[in-house]
Amino acid sequence: MIIILAASSLLFGYLVLQRLQLYLARRRIIQENNCKPCPYVLNRDPILGLDILRENVRLADAGRFLSGSQARFRRFKSNTFHNRIITSPIILTVEPENIKTILSLKFKDYDFSNRKVAMDPLLGDGIFNSDGARWASSRHLLRPNFAREQVADLAMLERHFKHLLKYIPADGSTVDLQDLFFCMTMDTATEFLFNHSTNSLRMLDQQESSANEDVQFARAFNAAQQDIVTRVRFGPLYRLLSKNTVKEGADAVKMCHAYVDRFVDDAVRWREEQDLEKKGSSDERYVFIHELAKQTKDKTRIRNELINILLAGRDTTASLLSNMFFEFAKRPEVWRKLREEVEGLQGRIPSYEELRGMKYVKWCLNESLRLNPVVPSNSRFAIRDTVLPRGGGPDGSSPLFVPRGTTVGYSTYTMHRRQDLYGADAEEFRPERWEALRPSWEYLPFNGGPRICLGQQYALTEAGFVTVRLAQEFKRLESRDTNGGVWVEGLTLTLCSKNGTKVGLFRE
Ligand code: HEM
Ligand SMILES: *[C@@H]1O[C@H](CO)[C@@H](O)[C@H](O)[C@H]1NC(C)=O
Ligand SMILES: *[C@@H]1O[C@H](CO)[C@@H](O)[C@H](O)[C@H]1NC(C)=O
Ligand SMILES: *[C@@H]1O[C@H](CO)[C@@H](O)[C@H](O)[C@H]1NC(C)=O
Repeated sequence: MIIILAASSLLFGYLVLQRLQLYLARRRIIQENNCKPCPYVLNRDPILGLDILRENVRLADAGRFLSGSQARFRRFKSNTFHNRIITSPIILTVEPENIKTILSLKFKDYDFSNRKVAMDPLLGDGIFNSDGARWASSRHLLRPNFAREQVADLAMLERHFKHLLKYIPADGSTVDLQDLFFCMTMDTATEFLFNHSTNSLRMLDQQESSANEDVQFARAFNAAQQDIVTRVRFGPLYRLLSKNTVKEGADAVKMCHAYVDRFVDDAVRWREEQDLEKKGSSDERYVFIHELAKQTKDKTRIRNELINILLAGRDTTASLLSNMFFEFAKRPEVWRKLREEVEGLQGRIPSYEELRGMKYVKWCLNESLRLNPVVPSNSRFAIRDTVLPRGGGPDGSSPLFVPRGTTVGYSTYTMHRRQDLYGADAEEFRPERWEALRPSWEYLPFNGGPRICLGQQYALTEAGFVTVRLAQEFKRLESRDTNGGVWVEGLTLTLCSKNGTKVGLFRE
């Protein structure tokens, strides 16, 4: 009895001491950094924060998740506030200095944590879904493949563009460009990665047999992504969903893996033959999957990295094009200026250098990614006690203490629409504003710091190319939305237009 009492009081004493130590250590950080508490707290329900969870679901269903989150910042008149969902503390911020701190200056104080659970089945531990040393090794493996020579294969883009043209009605009747863009970016990305295109634009052909396995893969990949969205949305409750939903997700993932595995098998066999023949392969055409096979024979690893890049690169580029053409269809003046710029080509297909030199095209890409950044919000998880430079005190100008275990979320969407950063017309699509803008951390479509997007050049090349080619082919665009032409958030893994990009296109 005495022993138990003594042991438990010892344990109790130890726990108290530990708490005290933690308290003192934190007080020191707070004092040394001049941290002040952030007075803005979103929750009315102070214990579970279920009010916010409910409100988020309601906003998402109405296609107003992002504008609703923007309204919260406006309501507080603050660029940083607190929130709590169940027991997880969350800090939300649209302060460039804070975002720079989590993504770059104090990169090592954060990881992805929560996002991994939802993405694991499809992505495994590829670049997009891993942290620490595992991520660094992926980054090292993949980075060389995004050099300029690799991403500037305009002949390949032109082939797929020609394919896309076939699906645009000649008589100006309505077409949803968003559907076409999502298929085309799947087709170009699979050719870039596997040297085998899905040619999924065929999916839009009613006559085409759906038994084709490339098209089936394209469908399965969409379903596997939808499964990620569902997992994110339901969190731990995912397992309680209907057996069918869960099985559909699992089947889609299995199918995606099996499809890609075949290309991986071929690539590894190719490499083994190379090894046997001791052939130098410098004279061959560049093939992404072969480059990976030269570095590693680990088939699961190659497959995971390829699927990670496909996920990172496909919807994003398609969403950019869809959002941008949604605006073009409503702004004949912008389309006219684009046409004026491409006239310089006199009908030729642009070279990589010519494409890079097209100022107005670039302004349009930048403006679309500002107004509707396709990765509109993001977060990191503090793995140790740390400090943000802003957000403390009523005016947010003091540093803010971030206890270990806090999620720091940031809304690129809201930051890109801050009137104090972009002017009173921040909500307008106006490419001309880029004539004078030279933003740094207040403009983050591709993120910043060590995990900055690897595919930025690839994406801007593809989106720019498609824009130029469409401007060469079509004199006029006509918006065909039936809801008065307002853009509604289509928020899945990326941000596109909920109602698609319905337009009529005219050559004359
Ligand atoms: C408009 C198009 C695109 C946008 C706006 C975009 C944006 C982003 C953003 C915001 C991230 C950071 C995600 C995070 O760390 O939480 C990212 C990462 C990444 N992106 Fe992109 N992306 C685009 C296209 C592409 C393309 C076309 C590719 C490849 C072909 C690609 C490959 C990647 C990869 C591999 C990463 C992970 C980098 C890492 O974690 O080290 N992206 N992208
Ligand atoms: C890539 O695919 C094309 C078309 O299927 C094929 O002709 C070519 O040999 C492939 N390239 C390599 C290096 O395997
Ligand atoms: C447009 O965006 C790119 C990439 O995000 C950026 O590097 C560039 O500075 C922007 N353009 C201008 C004119 O600022
Ligand atoms: C556009 O989206 C809104 C909101 O989801 C919906 O009410 C409306 O019917 C949609 N319009 C079209 C043409 O799909």
